[in-house]
Amino acid sequence: MPELPSSSLITEASDMIKTSGLMVVSTGAGMSSESGVRTFRGEEGFWREYRAEDLASIEGIRKNPELVWEWYRERLKACQELEPHAGYYSLERIQNEKEILPLITQNVDGLHQKAGIMDVIELHGSLRTASCLDSCGAPGKRMTEELFEILPPRCSCGSILRPDVVLFGEQLPEQALRRAFRLAESCDLMMVIGTSMVVYPASSLPLIALRKGVKVIEINPEETPLSSLDGVLSLHGTAGSILPEIVKVVYGE
Ligand code: OAD
Ligand code: ZN
Repeated sequence: MPELPSSSLITEASDMIKTSGLMVVSTGAGMSSESGVRTFRGEEGFWREYRAEDLASIEGIRKNPELVWEWYRERLKACQELEPHAGYYSLERIQNEKEILPLITQNVDGLHQKAGIMDVIELHGSLRTASCLDSCGAPGKRMTEELFEILPPRCSCGSILRPDVVLFGEQLPEQALRRAFRLAESCDLMMVIGTSMVVYPASSLPLIALRKGVKVIEINPEETPLSSLDGVLSLHGTAGSILPEIVKVVYGE
């Protein structure tokens, strides 16, 4: 069993959730790790084994499209086969009870939606679709097995396709970003789960909330740049163990 923070910290977090108005959740790769998706940093992280600029950049796709698409084929397959862990269902429960609970994520794996969580704001895009690398304007294609029959998959114009995830050096989807900033400005409570807090602009969202005097609950087994800031209740442990405990305290089961 993973270690849990003391019950008084869990109770404190639960009270904050019970009494808050608009609560916003922001998740990173650590949210998915107990479902079997690898994180990017840390000992088992993707960026230990691969160079981000080879796999997650426009130049990388142009230089070696087969390699990049093989990687995305594997990632997509893994994400389709994986199941959301108990922590996702806890978030879904809180969302149902609180009615409004927008969730901002840096993840592209679709696991939140698979657990029935609604109103997911995907800051880094998703693995659902791919579109033309040369932006010819042709509609995007769904990332299904057929798309991967001949690598690299191509657009109807003949150019290579690129997954609709945010690649290094690219802008984030404007609407999603605008909404995320607005929510950080206007929420009463923010919960930050499983992010190393090193990738901007997602990392700035809790800082915006804190500046407004809004409290932040962090769930992460490791210390992050957020953990020791004033106004942050840092729960050291995993999303899959802490979130169900919080739900038990908040809803008494
Ligand atoms: P990282 O891989 O940088 O960080 C994962 C965080 O999750 C670390 O702080 C871990 O301690 C924590 N963690 C690990 N297991 C956990 C668990 N079971 N429960 C809770 N937390 C856990 O991932 P992100 O911060 O999401 O960008 O990385 C941000 C971006 O960097 C990604 O979206 C990706 C990457 O380059 C793009 O691809 C554009
Ligand atoms: Zn095209």
